[in-house]
Amino acid sequence: MAAQGPKQPIGVFDSGVGGLSVLLPLRRLLPAEDVVYVADQAWCPYGPKPPQLIRDRSYAIVEALLARGAKLIVVACNAASTAALSALRERYPAVPFVGMEPAVKPAAERTNTGHVGILATAMTARGERLAQLIDRFGRGVTVHVTVPHGLVELVEQGLGESDVTAALLAPTLHEWHEAGVDAVVLGCTHYPFARGVIERLAGSQITVIDPGPAVARQTQRVLDETGLTRPVAPSPSAPEGATTFLTTAEPAELRIAVRRLAGAALADSAAFGYLDLA
Ligand code: DGL
Repeated sequence: MAAQGPKQPIGVFDSGVGGLSVLLPLRRLLPAEDVVYVADQAWCPYGPKPPQLIRDRSYAIVEALLARGAKLIVVACNAASTAALSALRERYPAVPFVGMEPAVKPAAERTNTGHVGILATAMTARGERLAQLIDRFGRGVTVHVTVPHGLVELVEQGLGESDVTAALLAPTLHEWHEAGVDAVVLGCTHYPFARGVIERLAGSQITVIDPGPAVARQTQRVLDETGLTRPVAPSPSAPEGATTFLTTAEPAELRIAVRRLAGAALADSAAFGYLDLA
């Protein structure tokens, strides 16, 4: 592994397009940084798969990112953070990692009714990380955890903000409404791409918490602390960092999805390629 330096890229990965909900605030906060984003779409969804498989996928992806010079890696996936983050930190002690965790603490701080809802994949819902967070921050709060099976796939297909998603989520959000839930945590990075539907079904009194922007700020902090922030020339014409998207499935399809979810400016300026992780 090459020594990490400020001019090297940030690595980001997810099972698919969900990590865009972290990449977008990251790009806004750190426009000068180069980013390499890996979408492991050949193995998406991660949520229902065994933790060992997700750890093995995460090792392979991290190797690929380090081979491309990544100076810091954002695990932009709650399922992979649950299954692999501590193992990754142990295996690569010299690499700074930033991971996801369900936003139990901010939800517990914001709720007035004492009822918090968490939407997560099976991996995250079963994981020790969530149990520990509920233990630590959920005192005096009732935490309702639901796995909306199929929502990751709907977002991958571009149907996050659709009637199909509304039909999938309506029973849960109705139940939570009856229970008095007033804070909903998006415990999977794909779910911000269904936020409109969630907010419509949940009603205006409910706070929806997307941890993406906080994870971007944490990445900035870690870069600063480790001296790895890319220096920016103080000029309005400072060049924007490059974004490269790599997928284990179809680059042309990923480009379409990025355009749909993140906009034409990013999709048209980024490079797209296939990542062979066999
Ligand atoms: N976006 C990921 C997460 O945050 C993975 C979802 C999946 O592949 O099941 O959990």
